[in-house]
Amino acid sequence: MRSLIDILDFSTEELDRLMDTAADIIANPAKYAEACHGKKLATLFFEPSTRTRLSFEAAMLELGGNVIGFSEASSSSAAKGESVADTAKVISCYADIIAMRHPLEGAPYVASCNATVPVINAGDGGHSHPTQTLTDLFTIRREKGRLHDLTVGFCGDLKYGRTVHSLITALSRYTGIRLVLISPEELQLPSYVRYEVLEKNRMTYTETNDLEAAIPELDILYMTRIQGERFANREDYLRLKDSYILTAEKMKLAKSDLAVLHPLPRVNEISIQIDRDPRACYFKQVANGKYMRMALILKLLEEAASNPTHVEHDDGVARVLNRYTCRNRRCITTVEQELDQIFKLTDPDAGICRCIYCEAKQRME
Ligand code: CP
Repeated sequence: MRSLIDILDFSTEELDRLMDTAADIIANPAKYAEACHGKKLATLFFEPSTRTRLSFEAAMLELGGNVIGFSEASSSSAAKGESVADTAKVISCYADIIAMRHPLEGAPYVASCNATVPVINAGDGGHSHPTQTLTDLFTIRREKGRLHDLTVGFCGDLKYGRTVHSLITALSRYTGIRLVLISPEELQLPSYVRYEVLEKNRMTYTETNDLEAAIPELDILYMTRIQGERFANREDYLRLKDSYILTAEKMKLAKSDLAVLHPLPRVNEISIQIDRDPRACYFKQVANGKYMRMALILKLLEEAASNPTHVEHDDGVARVLNRYTCRNRRCITTVEQELDQIFKLTDPDAGICRCIYCEAKQRME
């Protein structure tokens, strides 16, 4: 049985097939209308969402299945102290597949290790958001006809923007990708993405804080919101929140076939004037998300039927158990302290290992 916790859980061939399925669903919706008849999806959202939760629910309903779940932690027994592991075991008794969003990084991974049904990471803290990445890849493929040989600009909060981390990770597997990372210095990419993804894959990238200077060379501009909810200090958020606003003036500097993406919600970073620009693709991106989630639900349920036992994703990297403690204050291990502290020996020559749940760096002693 497979889950989707990280975008690298699927090969590029599997991603291609998922996108083909999503395109076929768009072309032939009636063919899929009863594909999940009798199946239940549980949406466990411990953190707010509009698009991800409702697109998962719409996806399951359009596949002929049913949906149960909750949309905030306060209406679940997490409010009484129930662990993620126990929640996953319990929900496995009610549903055939789980989509989980959680503010703590690594929570969906913990759920996948304890559930007896597939678990989909619907966003964990500032860490990753693989189903948004499926949506983003499908949108780029539909708009550009390819996922290679593209100059992709990421603009805004690259530190806490989990959709950025997942999409950069996915793009690392395609050839001819050039990244332009546009952010204030305080909101640059976290080290695990910088070293584990950019450096290890020898990706071509430049960093700047100047959107106007960067925009003319871009094929894709991926705008992001400054993630106020993840800042430790409200004053820092207020100082940085309007760092970038995409306006019609700035769009005049861009290529005529630029595609502007944004995972949404938008706060202030794209002027509403841009919505009328044919290069604005963020509402098409929303629609694409439902079809990709339909394709994903179908794939995971089919795989669960043919192989119902849990399969641990094997990245070939050795682990150490309970020798170090994760210092990331947003890691699931900081709250659920009975969890084993497991670290991947990703870069032992440099004396670095990484928490298996949140991927935060730990110096090896
Ligand atoms: N893109 C995205 O994850 O939106 P929601 O937070 O509304 O789900």
